[in-house]
Amino acid sequence: MIHTSPTHLDSRKDVLTPADAYDAASVRYDEWKWQAFWRSTEAPFVLNTIGRHTDAERDSLLDVGCGTGFYLKELQPYFRSSVGIDVSQGMLSIARARAPLSEFIHADSAEFRSNTRFDVVLCTRVLSHLEDYRISLRMMMQMLKPKGLLLISNVDASHPYELTKLPTADGSVMAATFKHRQSSINEYLKLAGMQLISDAVFCDDASSPVTNLSAAHAKLGWASAFQFI
Ligand SMILES: C[S@@+](CC[C@H](N)C(=O)[O-])C[C@H]1O[C@@H](n2cnc3c(N)ncnc32)[C@H](O)[C@@H]1O
Repeated sequence: MIHTSPTHLDSRKDVLTPADAYDAASVRYDEWKWQAFWRSTEAPFVLNTIGRHTDAERDSLLDVGCGTGFYLKELQPYFRSSVGIDVSQGMLSIARARAPLSEFIHADSAEFRSNTRFDVVLCTRVLSHLEDYRISLRMMMQMLKPKGLLLISNVDASHPYELTKLPTADGSVMAATFKHRQSSINEYLKLAGMQLISDAVFCDDASSPVTNLSAAHAKLGWASAFQFI
C-alpha cells in the first residue's frame, strides 16, 4: 500500500484506474500482504457490528466495492439476500465463485441505481479510490431502508501512501488512490441526517506489513457505522 513521492498522479502513465488495477490484481488479491492486517482488525469490527444490528427484519445486504467477496461469504448466514457491486470484472468473477448465493452487478458506485432498498450497506476500503466520495455516499444512503445500517471503512489519511500497489500474476500495478479524512466523511453523513452509532480505528500491529512508520501504533484504517436518526 505504501508508495512515496509522486505529486502529479494524473500524469503518471503507470497509474491505472481502480477497474484496470483490480482486474490485473484479482488473482493475487486474497494473498496480498495487507489482507492479514485488515482481516485481523477491520473484519471483527465489521462482522460484530453487523451481527449486533442484524435481526429477523434485517435481511438484505449491499456490499459496495465487494472485491473478491470476503464479506459477502462471511455474512451469508445473516442475510436472506445479498448483492455485491464492483467496478472490476476480475474481482467479481472471484467473488461469484466464493459467494455463489449472492447476486453480483458490475457497476461503478457513483452510477449504481436500484429500486431495491437494503437493511445493511457495507463499503470497505473503496472510498480511498474515489476522488469525490460524495456521489457514492449519496447512492449508499439512498439504497438504505429507513432503519438500515451503513458501515464504511477506509484506509486512514495519515497512512503514508500516495498510490495503492497491488500484486499481479507477474509483478505489481499501481491504482489511483486519494486521501479522505474520517472526520470529513463522518461529517458528510451527519449533515445528511445520519447518526454515528459505532466506530473503530485500526492501528499498526504485528500483522501490519508497514515497517517504516515513524509513530508506533499509527492509525492505518478506520470504520464508522451509521443509521438515519
Ligand atoms: C481494497 S479493495 C476492497 C475489496 C473488498 N471491499 C474487501 O474488503 O476486501 C477495493 C475494491 O473497490 C473496488 N472499486 C474501486 N472503485 C470502485 C467504484 N468506483 N465502484 C465500485 N467498486 C470500486 C475495486 O475494484 C476493489 O474491488
